[in-house]
Formats: sequence, C-alpha cells, structure tokens
Amino acid sequence: MTESGSSPSRPGEVRLRVNGTEHRIAPEPDRSLLYVLREELGLTGTKYGCGEGECGACKVLVDGTAVRACMTPVGEVVDRSVTTIEGLASDGQLHPVQQGFLEARAFQCGFCTPGMIIAAVALLRQNAHPGEAEIRVALDGNVCRCGGYLRILDAVQRAARIAAGTGDGAL
Ligand code: FES
Ligand code: FES
Repeated sequence: MTESGSSPSRPGEVRLRVNGTEHRIAPEPDRSLLYVLREELGLTGTKYGCGEGECGACKVLVDGTAVRACMTPVGEVVDRSVTTIEGLASDGQLHPVQQGFLEARAFQCGFCTPGMIIAAVALLRQNAHPGEAEIRVALDGNVCRCGGYLRILDAVQRAARIAAGTGDGAL
C-alpha cells in the first residue's frame, strides 16, 4: 500500500517526492519508477510505450533532468525531486511548454505528448532560446508514432517565446 503525507515512515518504507508531495512507498528499490508512478501513485499521465528505453513516452523530470522512468529503478530517485506531466501547471496556469503544444496543436493521439513536453521542459531549463537543431537533438529520443514532428518543433519554439514573455507564441 502507498500513502502520502508527512508522518514518519514505517520501518522498511521509503519516501518519494513527486510533484511536491511526499509519498511513502514500500521498499523494493529495483521496481521501475514508471511502475510506481502509474500503478501505485495513480499518475497515469506518464505513459508506458516500449518499456525498453527507446520511445521516451515515460519521461519525467528528476531534479530538473529528463529521465526515462521505465529504465529508472525507484531506488535511484529516493530523496530526489520527481516531476511528472501532472506537476507542470501551477496556479491554474499551464506551463509555457504545455501552452506551446496547445497553440501549435502538436498532438494527434497524444500518447507521446507527456514525454515530449517533459523533454522540452528539460531543454528550456538549460537553453532558453534553442535553435531548431538543438530542439531536434533534445527530442531525438522521443518517438511520435503519429509523425507530428513538425508541429512538435513548432510547439517548442512557441514555448520558448511564451517563456520569454514575448507574446502568445505566434510568430
Ligand atoms: S516506455 Fe520508457 S522509453 Fe519507452
Ligand atoms: S501524437 Fe500520437 S504518438 Fe505522437
């Protein structure tokens, strides 16, 4: 059983901080972060695609860096800060990258979208004004089965403009 709250951990439990909330989870450090997020914490925005580190659908931020949750043992992220797609919006406001994707209509089925957005957030944290080539490199490990790459590229460029406060992202 998984609980959230601030009371002390019971013996054998470990703490996991996700989207600013502390959860107490059972040990077993080798199960994947993706499994814990989806099956134990109910955070199903993070997607299970390949389960082998190839598609990027499962990306989340760990201390601000994008990682593949399917390949990350939960024991590696104890005492670190995990952010999922559910944790990006704040005070009722979409994150600039979410807004950019919305404005660019950069999704068809939407299955790849959470991982794409997380990868783009990580990129913009490091490089607020990425060029097209840098965006392509940053998203290289993310697969869109619907082939929406041009709109996704547009979305990230819009997101950079939105984050910079230069309008609604439109050119
Ligand atoms: S589900 Fe993790 S990379 Fe595909
Ligand atoms: S929008 Fe369908 S996989 Fe990308």
